[in-house]
Amino acid sequence: MAAGKGTRMKSALPKVLHRLGGRALLAHVIDCAAQLSARQAVVITGHGAEQVEAALSGSALSLALQFVRQEPQLGTGHAVQQAMPRLTDDGVTLVLSGDVPLTEASTLQALLALCGGRQLALLTLALPDPSGYGRIVRAAPGGGVRSIVEHKDASEAERQIKEIYSGIMAVPTRLLRAWLGRLDKQNAQGEYYLTDIVKFAVADGLAVAAHQISDAAQVAGVNSPVQLAELERVYQLRRAHALMEAGTRLADPARLDLRGRLDCGRDVEIDVNCIFEGDVSLGDGVRVGANCVIANARIAAGAVIHPFTHIDGEKLGVEVGEGALVGPFARLRPGARLGAEVHIGNFVEVKNASLAKGAKANHLAYLGDATVGERVNFGAGSITANYDGANKHRTVIEADVHVGSNCVLVAPITLGAGGTVGGGSTLTKNAPAGALSVARGKQVSIANWTRPVKKSGN
Ligand code: UD1
Ligand code: CA
Repeated sequence: MAAGKGTRMKSALPKVLHRLGGRALLAHVIDCAAQLSARQAVVITGHGAEQVEAALSGSALSLALQFVRQEPQLGTGHAVQQAMPRLTDDGVTLVLSGDVPLTEASTLQALLALCGGRQLALLTLALPDPSGYGRIVRAAPGGGVRSIVEHKDASEAERQIKEIYSGIMAVPTRLLRAWLGRLDKQNAQGEYYLTDIVKFAVADGLAVAAHQISDAAQVAGVNSPVQLAELERVYQLRRAHALMEAGTRLADPARLDLRGRLDCGRDVEIDVNCIFEGDVSLGDGVRVGANCVIANARIAAGAVIHPFTHIDGEKLGVEVGEGALVGPFARLRPGARLGAEVHIGNFVEVKNASLAKGAKANHLAYLGDATVGERVNFGAGSITANYDGANKHRTVIEADVHVGSNCVLVAPITLGAGGTVGGGSTLTKNAPAGALSVARGKQVSIANWTRPVKKSGN
């Protein structure tokens, strides 16, 4: 169910598209369903339907997705009614909410096992403050479930019940279809309540099972920015613990944000306040300093990423070779490929450029659209001028070239192996191998120069 409005988010974005761990809430729910070997998933959309459908259609999922629209939204029972034409009677229907992102597949497996294709099974939870939720009414404490009564319809006595319905149920589709046909909206909210099917089951003499869990986060819904932020912390802490259990050393599990996939080798250390996005892998022994943002990158074994480094490979990716040193304050952009033992120092930007083994750019430099050979030393303040205002051009710097400080290499240009470029040069022509190339105003020294003196009275 993903048709609700989410008024309390106070956002133009449909609620189920708000992100948790970098991924839409609804995508978390569907990921979880995909682990259950379901035949299909039917997504019920309403508010912002087009946006929701478009956002999900693009994502690569192992599960066949179908969309149905619920217009207008007349309650959860009405929502599920819209999906029934897509479901076949020989199956089991698992009802999930698009705004409940942290349910674990094992919990749903247990619920499905309880349903067993025979009976209605409800996921429930005891809450110290159950207000707002549907209450599980039992014949006697611990006895069979008789009904679910919505908070707004509940008597004072019923409101004392702590056991609530999570919004998640598993039900044989054949029975669900029959029960949905009997719903009405004679209740406090004038809605078709899915939860009314519990009374129908009881009236038909069928047992209703409840699977009660104690982990509230698994059934917590997102209704407001505050709740979204709370669940984000729960999610992040879970991922941090999973990483530590696999051997990664985190300076502080509360100060790590994962918004995608992170693969870590052995003996990886991550300092505080790092953010990982997209697809990132860290090889054995990699160390990441504080305050780094790393997205879509492969960092090979033994590399060190010093504090405040920003790496984003986007679609092209970034590669950092074995034992390379990057940062502090470095920026690696799409297509940066650093070989083994490359050094990229402070305020150096690398884009669509490869640096072969041992090359160094230690201070204040820009390497864009460049091929840099082994052991090249690229001086402070030097740049490749790769853009002529219309097109990008390549710079090739062959092995063992030494580029002095404050040089401008106007591409396209090739610097032959072993050459030296004098500091302050602007090169527009290829430089031969082994040569010293200098392209700057010649130094003039005027002897005994008398400096101007300040006039009196000024
Ligand atoms: C529902 C349950 C309540 C349970 C609670 C758990 C009913 C009648 N009540 O409450 O027992 O404790 O969930 O959170 O089912 N939705 C639609 N179309 C609609 C209405 C809702 O798609 O017409 C979707 C919402 O987008 C949301 C989900 O259904 O994803 C639950 O709706 P919400 O309004 O949050 O739940 P309640 O009806 O208040
Ligand atoms: Ca409601």
